[in-house]
Amino acid sequence: MCDRLQKQMEENREVYNVPVVDFGNLFLFPAEVLVLERFRGQWPDFSVLDLGVGAGRTAWVFSQNAKSYDAIDYAEIRIQHCRELFPQSEHRRFHHGDARDLSEYEDGSLDFVLFSYNGIDYIDEKGRDAAFSEVKRVLRPGGWFFFSTHSLDSFPFQPPFPRRLSGIFKPLGILYRLLIAWKMKWLNRHVNVDEVKERGWACLVDYADQVTTHYIDPRLQRKRLEEQDFEVDTVWDMRGRENDFTPQPDEWMLHFLVRKKS
Ligand SMILES: C[S@@+](CC[C@H](N)C(=O)[O-])C[C@H]1O[C@@H](n2cnc3c(N)ncnc32)[C@H](O)[C@@H]1O
Repeated sequence: MCDRLQKQMEENREVYNVPVVDFGNLFLFPAEVLVLERFRGQWPDFSVLDLGVGAGRTAWVFSQNAKSYDAIDYAEIRIQHCRELFPQSEHRRFHHGDARDLSEYEDGSLDFVLFSYNGIDYIDEKGRDAAFSEVKRVLRPGGWFFFSTHSLDSFPFQPPFPRRLSGIFKPLGILYRLLIAWKMKWLNRHVNVDEVKERGWACLVDYADQVTTHYIDPRLQRKRLEEQDFEVDTVWDMRGRENDFTPQPDEWMLHFLVRKKS
């Protein structure tokens, strides 16, 4: 069942390897702002690696503040676009690379690694493990890893948020929500909900339906991080509220700030 969607994850790279159309969208998530604040005085001492930099949403602010900033993406076109957007220097570099193999970075050479907007969820289970272990290797003891991931608590997916509509648009709105809910069910028709809930992770097709996305039970994510010698510092939901691992079906993304044990 899930293997079929797992295999599709190998195609995710091609989905990202296309020209970027939206460069204006440089918003930050509340949790990202909190992390920038948290290390306010320390950025000038931090060597930062930004994994899966995409269209450069995080590059402007992290590269401006850090001592050094490297960003990689496995989709070459994303890197070309970032190079056009931001001047490169000794201090700010963009290059093609894969989070599963960070061999160009030495052990313990980085202070802060970022994998924002769920970049880690576009690689399969094996790749995910490899990425975590590479991040651990390149971080110095006590170094930080900040990433976000899709929460399996949000599956089965809820229909899109209802809009306030009136008159003829009201039934049309209801119909639209039902259609979307049905489409989500259909796209994940081979996924056995009880089985994946029991296992704690799944490869699913969600509203970003061009890609296949890894979802994980936040409790399992915490357990795995601890097994990998990371200390979980703080977890935030999409609104920047601290999360205590109580299941929240409407929060499909969680941000984890974790620290490599000293
Ligand atoms: C949803 S986008 C997020 C982009 C950016 N980090 C942001 O926060 O806006 C995910 C990005 O991760 C990249 N990505 C996924 N798997 C990767 C991997 N194994 N190595 C490097 N980049 C990867 C994709 O190419 C894509 O650009």
